Amino acid sequence: MERRDEEARGLDLRTDRAHGARIYDYILGGKDNFAVDREAGENSLKIWPSLKPHMQANRAFMHRVARYLATEHGIRQFLDIGTGLPTPPNLHQIVQEVDPTAQVVYTDNDPLVLAHARALMLGTTEGRTAYIDADMRDPQTIISAPEFQGTLDLNKPVGLLLIAIVHFIEDDEEALRVVRQVLDVLPSGSFLAMSIATDEFDPIPLAQVQREYNRLGETLIFRNRDTALRFFDGLEIVEPGLVQVHKWRPDGTEPEGVRDSDIAMYGAIARKP
Ligand SMILES: C[S@@+](CC[C@H](N)C(=O)[O-])C[C@H]1O[C@@H](n2cnc3c(N)ncnc32)[C@H](O)[C@@H]1O
Repeated sequence: MERRDEEARGLDLRTDRAHGARIYDYILGGKDNFAVDREAGENSLKIWPSLKPHMQANRAFMHRVARYLATEHGIRQFLDIGTGLPTPPNLHQIVQEVDPTAQVVYTDNDPLVLAHARALMLGTTEGRTAYIDADMRDPQTIISAPEFQGTLDLNKPVGLLLIAIVHFIEDDEEALRVVRQVLDVLPSGSFLAMSIATDEFDPIPLAQVQREYNRLGETLIFRNRDTALRFFDGLEIVEPGLVQVHKWRPDGTEPEGVRDSDIAMYGAIARKP
């Protein structure tokens, strides 16, 4: 990215610290990242070469989840917390392919994602996409935003997605509270879809990756299966339950040769009764 572009947008970016969205963008082959993000990405890849298939599997999980909720459960409204930098197909492209009238509210707290929000919001003419610039640690900001209130009809079920994001919240209780607080305002029949970082399948290199992220200014918290399951307490978890993301309803498009030790992410979907 050209420095001039960044200045022209008037972004308040800290380019001396790595950022999760931009490391992820770099590993997935995107261009929206800075030297510090590339450094974090390259160092982490050296420590744990599985980082790339791991991130690709996470993104593919999001695709399958979105399609599943739209086709199998008729969900037509989505709230995506921790959207990330646009990487086609984005959520609205998947669900508006199923039904062009589907509505998507995106939310993230990265100024670079905000700068891309216009591109993100180019959905179908029939459907709607909106963007909220908010920190998920304050769910009330999201819930009370005009884009949330004006886009989502809370008499109808909503698909709430938190994909590869709660590992940025260190404290388990805080992460659980954030998810619960958003879920509380959604009607019965809504779904929670999450992927949750775990080091249970390859702990030693992942501890080093975590130190590398921390060294360059980014948080990365791994959770075990029991803690990950707590996000779904009181909800009806859908088959196959909480599994590594590559094992969640694979659709035959997965790359060959992925091992369990390559995937540091649990994923699940559950219905709000
Ligand atoms: C690894 S990316 C995941 C993107 C996308 N959900 C996916 O899985 O493809 C995580 C995103 O969460 C966002 N994020 C991190 N902390 C956040 C916070 N406190 N509030 C809102 N968004 C946050 C980052 O800016 C980043 O865009």
